[in-house]
Amino acid sequence: MTIEKIQEADKPQVMALLKQVNMHYVPSAEMPEISWENYFVVRMKGRVVGFCGYKILSDTEAKTELMAVDRDCRGLGLGLKLQTFRMKEMACRGIKILTTNCDLPKSIAWYKKHFGYEEVGRLKKVHEYSAPDIDCWTTLRVDLEKWARQSREVAADE
Ligand SMILES: CC(C)(COP(=O)(O)OP(=O)(O)OC[C@H]1O[C@@H](n2cnc3c(N)ncnc32)[C@H](O)[C@@H]1OP(=O)(O)O)[C@@H](O)C(=O)NCCC(=O)NCCS
Repeated sequence: MTIEKIQEADKPQVMALLKQVNMHYVPSAEMPEISWENYFVVRMKGRVVGFCGYKILSDTEAKTELMAVDRDCRGLGLGLKLQTFRMKEMACRGIKILTTNCDLPKSIAWYKKHFGYEEVGRLKKVHEYSAPDIDCWTTLRVDLEKWARQSREVAADE
């Protein structure tokens, strides 16, 4: 398993994964464009089985963009590795406040459980995107500086 910066040839596989999770409406009002320069893929035996990305909003703020792991490869810890990878990347770039909009209750619980996110609001979807039966995003936020400090302390203790 490797996590690598996305290459042009990976994009069709990423788009297929987006379709799997009903997030392939790009460009659209919900997702006008993808910040490809900040995307990473997880590859197993040469196949792209997951990806994640983020968007820089200012010198100190960013939001996560898209992330998905192939349905057949979930629960193996790939999502945990991808999310940790992008959070470290953003922390290294000086990002202090990270925002994530998420709709699936299981994913929201996962972000809160593992990465120190807190719920800060709700945002109505402007059209179908991701779960068709959920009409709003839950906005989550994490203090990335604090998360990075705590991750370093845990690593030093191990
Ligand atoms: C969120 C997502 C990326 C996590 O990927 P993943 O590789 O399954 O992540 P992990 O293996 O690290 O952890 C998944 C959690 O689901 C549990 N799980 C176990 N088997 C699972 C399975 N077959 N399917 C889904 N989840 C499973 C894991 O135990 C883990 O829970 P825990 O950490 O609370 O114990 C993935 O579920 C996904 O693509 N979801 C749809 C898109 C989405 O919600 N993206 C985020 C947008 S904001």
